[in-house]
Amino acid sequence: MATGNQCGYHRYMKEAPIRQMVPGDLPGVLEIEEASFTGPWTAAGFLVVMERKNVASYVYTRGKKVLAYFFFNFYESDTHIMNLAVRPGYRRQGIALECLRFAERLARHRRALRITLEVEESNLPAHLLYRKAGYRATRILRNYYSASNEDGYRMVRLLSETAAAAP
Ligand SMILES: CC(C)(COP(=O)(O)OP(=O)(O)OC[C@H]1O[C@@H](n2cnc3c(N)ncnc32)[C@H](O)[C@@H]1OP(=O)(O)O)[C@@H](O)C(=O)NCCC(=O)NCCS
Repeated sequence: MATGNQCGYHRYMKEAPIRQMVPGDLPGVLEIEEASFTGPWTAAGFLVVMERKNVASYVYTRGKKVLAYFFFNFYESDTHIMNLAVRPGYRRQGIALECLRFAERLARHRRALRITLEVEESNLPAHLLYRKAGYRATRILRNYYSASNEDGYRMVRLLSETAAAAP
């Protein structure tokens, strides 16, 4: 399990329904993954990624139910969001925004200067989400999604510009 994201951070996050992902969360995570993506990751794929030292994986829960999950990795001054999905039926309740704010606070805590991610050109809900969270498209990535033969966008949130503001 990745531990590179501890830093005593959860002292500040006691009330948040967000906690680190554990292998027991995988059935719920896979349900969301399979309902959300055309080429879903497998359980084995999730486990491999969760073991990486520079990867942080989190779930958003209500009771015992996993409502969302997100992964990000850290590389020098960059934090990269690898994956984020919310359970259908619980969307448009601000859960993804809350996950992004959490990732942002953690990135700041690690002194990251920016958060990056890639998103499919056609994924309008994600574009609107990231735009609302302060991300800006900086590059078109031609044929980035080979399975769907689709372009992607690189999106960036600069943290240095807003370092003084509470996320
Ligand atoms: C994209 C996704 C993560 C958004 O999750 P969510 O919890 O529904 O998003 P939020 O409720 O936090 O939405 C925050 C804002 O994003 C925008 N937004 C999100 N989904 C939207 C939609 N379907 N239509 C229009 N705007 C949307 C809105 O501005 C929204 O604010 P509002 O509800 O006050 O208008 C979710 O639709 C999902 O899991 N999709 C499948 C997986 C995916 O595409 N992940 C992103 C990969 S890059």
